[in-house]
Amino acid sequence: MQTSSIHGMWSSRLAFVLAATGSAVGLGNIWRFPYITSENGGGAFVLVYLVCIFLVGLPVMFSEIVIGRRGRMSPINSLKELSDDAGKTRAWMGLGVLGVIAGFVILSFYSVVAGWTLHYGFLYFKELIGMGQPITDPAETFTGLLANAGELTFWHGLFMLMTVAVVALGVEKGLERAVSILMPMLFVLLLILLGYGIQTGHFMEAVSFLFRPDWSQLSFGMVVTALGQAFFTLSLGMCAIMTYGAYLPSNANIPAVGTTVAISDTVVALIAGLAIFPVVIAFGIDPAGGGAGLIFTSLPLAFAEMPFGIAYGMAFFLLLSVAAWTSSISLMEPATAYLVESTNLSRKGAALCVAAVAWMLGLVSVFSFNLWAEVSIGGRSLMDAKDFVTSEIMLPIGGLLTALFAGWALSSAISREELDNKMPNWAYTAWLWLARVGAPGLILIVMAGRLELF
Ligand code: TRP
Repeated sequence: MQTSSIHGMWSSRLAFVLAATGSAVGLGNIWRFPYITSENGGGAFVLVYLVCIFLVGLPVMFSEIVIGRRGRMSPINSLKELSDDAGKTRAWMGLGVLGVIAGFVILSFYSVVAGWTLHYGFLYFKELIGMGQPITDPAETFTGLLANAGELTFWHGLFMLMTVAVVALGVEKGLERAVSILMPMLFVLLLILLGYGIQTGHFMEAVSFLFRPDWSQLSFGMVVTALGQAFFTLSLGMCAIMTYGAYLPSNANIPAVGTTVAISDTVVALIAGLAIFPVVIAFGIDPAGGGAGLIFTSLPLAFAEMPFGIAYGMAFFLLLSVAAWTSSISLMEPATAYLVESTNLSRKGAALCVAAVAWMLGLVSVFSFNLWAEVSIGGRSLMDAKDFVTSEIMLPIGGLLTALFAGWALSSAISREELDNKMPNWAYTAWLWLARVGAPGLILIVMAGRLELF
């Protein structure tokens, strides 16, 4: 059994929790969760999402960390080694390949949206130093940004450079430090925004929109979307957390760290929802209208009215960019680690190759708002198609295979040892059967239902 990874190690279990929470908490919580919730009608969607987190997300989270820490390599090679050791087919490497591909596609559109947040941070900065125009009509500002391919490409490129810079430096330097200072700051800003939301007088309406289920909204399509959001927000299904698990010290307790990450992520998403919807309602934006621009068109209305709103708006978007940054790193790491193991590229060279490909793929998302706005695949813009294929197809399938591998291909002696011998028996058995049957079964039923197979 390997006790360390050639790529480096987290200096402590706290470092892993920070890095994995940094990966999980990102645009998925603050940008995607509110707008997907609004598009899916609120309460019922949120409750299904919470069920997906606990019945599917958590067992898959444990599975990814177990596989990663046991293999101690990039997902593709960890799966190869572990299959060989268990006398199972090497076809399991396909899960790692699927993860690497999904990582490229997600990174390519994630970076474009992160570019929007950088741009907004910069807009507020310019206004603060008296060199920019105030955002008087946020909807118009947002549409104007999307129409400008050059501007989008610039910010997308800048964000990709920020990501590659950290990945090139390796696991220990930079990342751990950035996460431990900046993420708590973002959390505090969210709480302040929550306070503002409460004083708008529309807080209870937001609570009711988010938590009062209207079960007429329930459909297989909606459940797949909630499942996809659960995977996306927890960074699961593409072997990112598996990769982080490879750098986890042997004495860290996987159930404890995995649960901490999942709970922190969920709390941030719910607080973001409770902070954003009162604003949306207060300014008369139709919460069901949603759309990917939701936070960019609603929050500036609040910032325009709040005391110190400009400074606050700047801090908010810059910290959101940081949250996106600590997430995008985990999208780039699996492919980079694989290239380092399998080619003679250095870490820097490998990271640059990955970033270059993802950046080019990202141009497809950039152009989907302007030059190629007319192009659609199955009624979706190119941007939405990439989001849909990854979160609603590739991540659930990746998660399904991950759970099956940890539950069936690994011997229970191995999974028991990795999950910590101190874990009570009932809890281990619950995990084992959720990984073997529960989570894969739910994923299959929901996906089959969506395809109208029954
Ligand atoms: N979880 C991140 C967010 O919510 C995005 C992310 C990072 C991700 N790594 C991932 C999503 C791996 C899926 C898989 O913003």
